[in-house]
Amino acid sequence: MTMTSTGPGRPPKPEMNLATWTAVDDYFGQALIPGDAAMDEAQRASAAGGLPEISVSAAQGKLLHLLARSIGARRILEVGTLGGYSTIWLARAIRSPGVLITLELDPHHAQVARSNLDRAGVGDLVEIRIGPAAESLAALAGAGPEPFDLVFIDADKKSNTLYFDYAVRLGRPGTVIVVDNVVRSGRVADSADGNEAVAGVRQLVNALAAHRAVDATAIQTVGAKGYDGFILALVGDNSRD
Ligand code: SAH
Ligand code: DHB
Ligand code: MG
Repeated sequence: MTMTSTGPGRPPKPEMNLATWTAVDDYFGQALIPGDAAMDEAQRASAAGGLPEISVSAAQGKLLHLLARSIGARRILEVGTLGGYSTIWLARAIRSPGVLITLELDPHHAQVARSNLDRAGVGDLVEIRIGPAAESLAALAGAGPEPFDLVFIDADKKSNTLYFDYAVRLGRPGTVIVVDNVVRSGRVADSADGNEAVAGVRQLVNALAAHRAVDATAIQTVGAKGYDGFILALVGDNSRD
């Protein structure tokens, strides 16, 4: 009998581990997320191009997609393109006429993303801006664009607070902001963790706690990508303060 057994004759509970989480993602995915040749090919081409396999999962991609559709998003901003997997999910949610601007540091990632986006049929909707996101965001803000309806922040985690501040500035009351990878197997709760990505998330959480114009929550997730989580924030009009 193991420590996880709950009584005589009862089988032990299955361990809560990556194999279980992946099997559950596969189960729901097969039922709810139809196979998509362009999406599969994007993941294959990204791996073949040597990109790290750190995109959102299919379940997470579809969550982003449904969020964007729920708010009727026409203008979406993404920070951190990689091979464009999350970009495809978001671009396919855009209500026409609309646009998605995605920011990527690495020209090779951007090149792989471009061909993935074109193959997925959303190339005309998506503009990839290559360079450090801090610079691209400064240029974007300087141009005074129409506000974005949804912003997905998923790049270098140490810069989360800077990117979030730009997202608010480039948004409007009602803009939804999602920040990926805020749990990192639970390390976020350790104030002594010296990792700069963890520190970047904690800095953002402190800023959110003090932010008068933004409401936010953080959700822990398990799945094919392990144990992580995301922040969901809503830009308000400050009228209740
Ligand atoms: N959103 C993607 C995954 C992004 S991975 C998806 O889910 O499919 C993070 C990406 O951010 C990487 O491609 C990395 O090159 C990029 N990145 C890292 N630092 C950056 C910076 N300073 N500016 C812009 N992009 C950056
Ligand atoms: C990493 C980055 C991501 O955006 C992600 O979803 C998973 C991992 C990383 O840098 O390790
Ligand atoms: Mg991520």
